[in-house]
Amino acid sequence: MLNWDDTPSTATQTPAITPKARPHHLAAEAVAAGATGLEDLEMGASRIRVDDKKIINCHADLNQLVPFKYKWAWDKYLSACNNHWMPQEIGMSADIAMWQDPQGLTEDERMIIKRSLGFFSTADSLVANNLVLAVYRHITNPECRQYILRQAFEEAIHTHAYQYCIESLGLDEAEVFNMYREVPSIHDKAAWALPYTQSLGDPNFNTGTTEDDQRLLRDMIAFYVVFEGIFFYVGFVQLLSFGRRNKMVGVSEQIQYIMRDEAMHMNFGIDVINQIKIENPHLWTAEFQQQALDMIKEATELEIRYAHDTMPRGVLGLNANMFNEYMKFIANRRCEQIGLKALYPRAENPFPWMSEVLDLKKEKNFFETRVTEYQTGGALSWD
Ligand SMILES: [Fe+2]
Ligand SMILES: [Fe+2]
Repeated sequence: MLNWDDTPSTATQTPAITPKARPHHLAAEAVAAGATGLEDLEMGASRIRVDDKKIINCHADLNQLVPFKYKWAWDKYLSACNNHWMPQEIGMSADIAMWQDPQGLTEDERMIIKRSLGFFSTADSLVANNLVLAVYRHITNPECRQYILRQAFEEAIHTHAYQYCIESLGLDEAEVFNMYREVPSIHDKAAWALPYTQSLGDPNFNTGTTEDDQRLLRDMIAFYVVFEGIFFYVGFVQLLSFGRRNKMVGVSEQIQYIMRDEAMHMNFGIDVINQIKIENPHLWTAEFQQQALDMIKEATELEIRYAHDTMPRGVLGLNANMFNEYMKFIANRRCEQIGLKALYPRAENPFPWMSEVLDLKKEKNFFETRVTEYQTGGALSWD
């Protein structure tokens, strides 16, 4: 038998290590804020009980994944791993030929491709940075953190996918990646979200008071409900509309994979928000709900403006006015998902085919094969 460790057991032969004293203010802060996972180890501390676990401000050891309390977080982690994909698996040669053919696409279609890549290429990095630098530290639950780690990798894959599309089509990468500092409707969406992550990313920020816990909830609504749940949707409809018309099928397929991931990110965030509400009902005041509604309303208006900016004329069977209705429909759904009243009671969905793709019941298996079966253009007419 192989023996990898000839050193004697530490339990009997090594004197106990004296814990280093912690500055008092740090200890007090840690008690209010919950654990981080980097605390000194306490020899002989009792084993984790499921009832000790909480999403925020929890003191149970964060390095012990089990026993699970939030099985939905673990299940989403497993589903996300089952859905693993890489951008290079998707062929781009038809897209390259179409992009290079002067007759391949109209100027309006080319603008949508470039603006979409411009928005998404930096958006996914911003989402990843929010996760890693702002949200993760304050989520005091190991199974949720396990999912967040997987999500962070998926955001890296998404940024990779956009880079891969930009490189394949031979676009000017500096122009595309810099659009959020040059194109107002792209800038405005990223700029809208930044204050929420900056607030949490402050190294002196900790949860533990009503006001600070509400700051965390606000960031989660800004990123999971608005950024991933509203700001991506004009771009998703536009890019999927290419594929439905048999154009730019590689870019469109990349987006199908990304949208599947994003739907799960958003659903995870909504589950976390709702669980925080259950565990901390005092946070969900009438005033806070109104702030959340105001955030969703502002964001819906920005996304509608983005639709008009990227589609000055009708294209691909779409026109900007359809998105007035669609974004209101999406906003209502987001409100309902976190227990708010619908903002736009009569809004209807002009793109029922998007609902088919996004049907939550299909979350686990709607892309279970690598061959994505999509209805191509022609069967549905928007004109
Ligand atoms: Fe993403
Ligand atoms: Fe995401």
